[in-house]
Amino acid sequence: MADLQGSQSIYEGARRRGTRRDEFVRRLKEQRYRLAGAALLFAALAGAGAMSPPIAFFAFLGLSALLMGEEAQEVKTAASPAELGQRHALPPNGRLGALVVEHLPDPVVLLDKSSRILYANRAAHDLMGHVPAGRPVASALRAPALLSAIQKVQEEGGTLSIDYEMPVPVERHFRAMISELGPETGGELSKELNGLPEASLLIMLHDLTDMRRVEQMRVDFVANASHELKTPLASLSGFIETIQGHAKDDPEAQARFLGIMSEQAARMQRLIEDLLSLSRIEMREHVPPSGEVDLAALTGDVTDGLGPLAASHGVEINVDVKEGVEPVRGEWDELHQVVQNLTENALKYGRSGKRIDITIAPALNQAGRKMTELAIRDYGPGIPREHIPRLTERFYRVDVAKSRERGGTGLGLAIVKHIVNRHSGTLTIDSHVGEGSTFTVRLPVRAQTRA
Ligand SMILES: Nc1ncnc2c1ncn2[C@@H]1O[C@H](COP(=O)(O)OP(=O)(O)OP(=O)(O)O)[C@@H](O)[C@H]1O
Ligand SMILES: [Mg+2]
Repeated sequence: MADLQGSQSIYEGARRRGTRRDEFVRRLKEQRYRLAGAALLFAALAGAGAMSPPIAFFAFLGLSALLMGEEAQEVKTAASPAELGQRHALPPNGRLGALVVEHLPDPVVLLDKSSRILYANRAAHDLMGHVPAGRPVASALRAPALLSAIQKVQEEGGTLSIDYEMPVPVERHFRAMISELGPETGGELSKELNGLPEASLLIMLHDLTDMRRVEQMRVDFVANASHELKTPLASLSGFIETIQGHAKDDPEAQARFLGIMSEQAARMQRLIEDLLSLSRIEMREHVPPSGEVDLAALTGDVTDGLGPLAASHGVEINVDVKEGVEPVRGEWDELHQVVQNLTENALKYGRSGKRIDITIAPALNQAGRKMTELAIRDYGPGIPREHIPRLTERFYRVDVAKSRERGGTGLGLAIVKHIVNRHSGTLTIDSHVGEGSTFTVRLPVRAQTRA
């Protein structure tokens, strides 16, 4: 209400100065065209993928206010109280626009005709390492592809969009949008910049690193999954041909080949089940589990199932449940998959140690929250240190041939990681070559009380 009264008095003041209303309407229209122009530019940038749409919107608000600053105030005095009330939400002057540009998450840099930096927003300073105004852009943004694109726009005008990468200190990918500003806009911006040389180029950078990483993961995943399916399929086709061809009249060979074929078909089926399981778990990863699970009972179930396999390899499985273990918040089927895969791994890869120790104990996390800890220790060959951080990646295996030979798809630990994440738990891997490995899962107990 107070704002509206304030607007009313501005309007009255304007009337007293005798300014004609038609003149104000004409000027208001002028502003609209410029706003529309700026909106189109930023919509084009967003459409071209140079900026995400919300950033383009804010950049549009910011830059249009920056360009129109003074005049916007003039028009404000001419509008009716109702219009002023509506327009109150728009940026009132150039300072707000400058502030918005300053705080954009994407780097924005203004250059003069000699490619010296006139202005860089906060994100640009973070990227370039706080470069003072007046320094050549080449000393701050060193990517050769970017510098030659800047040079090209300085010489030929127009707008260029390029993707480039910075290999050091860590590899990062950017999309740069380089636009010629034209004398009118450049001059107006220079006014805002307190008489520095005329602005000639606007550079906007958008960090594509995360997007590229996700893209790469997707490509690797499809390649790996197809390869894993192709191998047993090729074997199946080969044996079908053999049975139809020279083993046509050899029932003994046929029986042997059919045995191998059924193994390969089972492998394909396991892979498809694991892939489906992974995608199901990923879909539900943000939904916290609602059930309650007794990890000691669940572990007993897993070891009962794996007992015959362990016995056939001469491996003894010991389960030790400590005092005070509480049930965890979780889903039985998913946690069963976790314990099953970790115990199976200990059996598959650590069987030479002839012993697996599973310990279930109460624990506290760093925040003092009560957890239940399940540790699976084997005394096998262990895992070289460099492989440990990558074990939970899909299809990652230390020894691909051994994993395949033992029926592995390389998805087990990826599934474990996703399930543990969904349960707000942690997975830690501790392994020493020659001594064996310990995989430890910690899960929050059902009652969310602090110890
Ligand atoms: N206890 C262990 N000792 C030594 N190496 C292990 C152990 N557990 C896992 N690994 C290594 O980690 C890799 C990944 O394990 P993961 O469970 O993800 O896949 P997998 O067992 O090969 O296949 P899947 O579990 O899908 O049947 C294994 O191939 C193996 O090289
Ligand atoms: Mg496994």
